[in-house]
Amino acid sequence: MTETTGSTEPTEPTDDGHGDGYDDCGDGSGDRRVELAAALTAGGDLRSPEWRDAVLATPRHEFLRGGFFRRVDDGTRTGWEPVRPGDADWLPACYRDESLVTQIAGTIVPGDLDGRIHRLPTSSSTLPGLVVRMLEELAVGNGSRVLEIGTGSGYSTALLCHRLGAALVTSVEVDPEVSGRARVALGAVGHHPELVVGDGLAGHAPNAPYDRLIATCGVLDVPAAWLAQVRPGGRIVVTVGGWLHSSELACLTVREDGTAAGRLLGGQVSFMLARPQTPPPLGILPDLGAGTERESTVGWEALDDWTARFVAQLAAPRAQRFGLALPEGELKVLLDVEAGSWAALRRDGGRWIVREGGPDPLWRRVEDRITSWRRAGSPGLDRFLITVGPGGRTITWDA
Ligand SMILES: C[S@@+](CC[C@H](N)C(=O)[O-])C[C@H]1O[C@@H](n2cnc3c(N)ncnc32)[C@H](O)[C@@H]1O
Repeated sequence: MTETTGSTEPTEPTDDGHGDGYDDCGDGSGDRRVELAAALTAGGDLRSPEWRDAVLATPRHEFLRGGFFRRVDDGTRTGWEPVRPGDADWLPACYRDESLVTQIAGTIVPGDLDGRIHRLPTSSSTLPGLVVRMLEELAVGNGSRVLEIGTGSGYSTALLCHRLGAALVTSVEVDPEVSGRARVALGAVGHHPELVVGDGLAGHAPNAPYDRLIATCGVLDVPAAWLAQVRPGGRIVVTVGGWLHSSELACLTVREDGTAAGRLLGGQVSFMLARPQTPPPLGILPDLGAGTERESTVGWEALDDWTARFVAQLAAPRAQRFGLALPEGELKVLLDVEAGSWAALRRDGGRWIVREGGPDPLWRRVEDRITSWRRAGSPGLDRFLITVGPGGRTITWDA
């Protein structure tokens, strides 16, 4: 591996373009890295020679030595089965443009089980195409000091270390065991960045100011701490999402006054949410027979569309959606657990009837926002603008 430990200079490319110069791990992965780089270039995510050099130099399989989980859908439920080094598809999968889940339910790793598990992923090695797309958007220069949120497997951290030198890279991971495994993998390929265990929503003030911040977990809101720790003119690349499970990559520039502005980039990018921001349990359901009933101007099926759902999420940022099968038919429900507001929709022939209760008319807000977005011509998320300041976050679409 190319040694970059402690260096503040970018490493010199040594590749001849065919990957031979990189296959120095004795593991035969050099050709696979060349193929991965070619695929990422063909897909339009990998654009610059510097990041191509980083992809060619970084053995992703070293960050997946503990294996990964393969998704298995049995028609009703999503399950996860372990794939470990030694399994035939382990090495090829490490070099496909695939997101590979490395932890389930907050603790379970591939070495822990032989069967199938039906719980949610909590850590992964991000889709390489998405990692390099975000790194390209980050627009680092030689000497840029970068804060990464969500170390995960350490693969994206390693790319940053190769490009910038480990001394300029700080990476925060909330899960100590995940961070520990990343430290071992990074060390094995010769990188020793500052790895911090903690809540990345607070950034990492001791190494601030940063020129760039990249988050590989999603957030509901861009935290004030990030604005304070990234210098004016610096850039933040993060996925903003919500509990209706629509999200998008945002690229923001921090302004002199400490606020930040930018745009969404499009592409329907999805990341697991930062752990403190995962949705609360639904708890005891409210009485969905209470409240007041009327005909809705927007049907529930509007939420099937990724962008419309993102718009709905802007209107009801703390709402969760679920279905209830009742003897009299199916109810579609939006519930804001903390506020106690809810909306329940049912089909009545070709119409949707909504019943709303609690302090906030959730569905009225969703209807209004979706209607105004439709009147604007239903713009795509790449036409959405984002600003963040002391008053919180604003996302609008340009007319
Ligand atoms: C998609 S994975 C990161 C993948 C990583 N970039 C890679 O290439 O392997 C997201 C990571 O964010 C971590 N995470 C979640 N919430 C966090 C938080 N509040 N602060 C720091 N890390 C967090 C998760 O534990 C998980 O490891």
